[in-house]
Amino acid sequence: MQFVPPDYFRKLSREEMFPDPSRPLEIDLGCGDGSFLVALAEAYPQRDFLGVERLLGRVRKVCRKAERAELTNLRVLRLETAYTVGWLLPDACATRVHFLFPDPWPKKKHHKRRLVTDDFCAAIERILVAGGEFLFKTDHREYFDEALPVLEAAAGLQRLDWAPDAFFYPTTDFEALWRAEGREVYSARFSRSS
Ligand SMILES: C[S@@+](CC[C@H](N)C(=O)[O-])C[C@H]1O[C@@H](n2cnc3c(N)ncnc32)[C@H](O)[C@@H]1O
Repeated sequence: MQFVPPDYFRKLSREEMFPDPSRPLEIDLGCGDGSFLVALAEAYPQRDFLGVERLLGRVRKVCRKAERAELTNLRVLRLETAYTVGWLLPDACATRVHFLFPDPWPKKKHHKRRLVTDDFCAAIERILVAGGEFLFKTDHREYFDEALPVLEAAAGLQRLDWAPDAFFYPTTDFEALWRAEGREVYSARFSRSS
């Protein structure tokens, strides 16, 4: 179901998002139509999942999918990603943050809209628990080449190997589209050092 924060101008508490703070929480930034998130929430009923998406139509689609699957461990927040990770989410709340096929903003005059910046990395470090993971995929080589050094320079993030079959990781809606077009996918996985 849709998650509406009680107050948009102060940090949430873990309990305001999901009632049991002892359960692992995974966050999908820019969750789109939500096939990835729904597949994860179905596979891991013992974990909670929060989708963050700014487009209302997509938020509604994910909520409908979650309701059809009778999922009680999935909620969707309609909000902008940078604000959400920078200001709204509590410290050390997430065991995994997924950042999958973010808009690459290919035109040079739009590059400043790209989300991976030093501030974004600091926010990801802040919201991850020690040992928590940040998982990034894109089909856009130039965006990947720009984002990777920024992520690698973040003091609290350590790059890990990510073999395609290392663990269950559903294909996203956009990933399916790009792979069908024969595009290559670039991936990077990081762990939050303690
Ligand atoms: C290319 S789609 C990828 C969707 C999904 N992750 C997937 O792989 O299928 C990017 C998604 O991020 C959302 N989005 C882009 N910028 C955003 C932002 N700053 N805050 C929240 N959502 C954003 C878009 O509305 C869109 O649904």
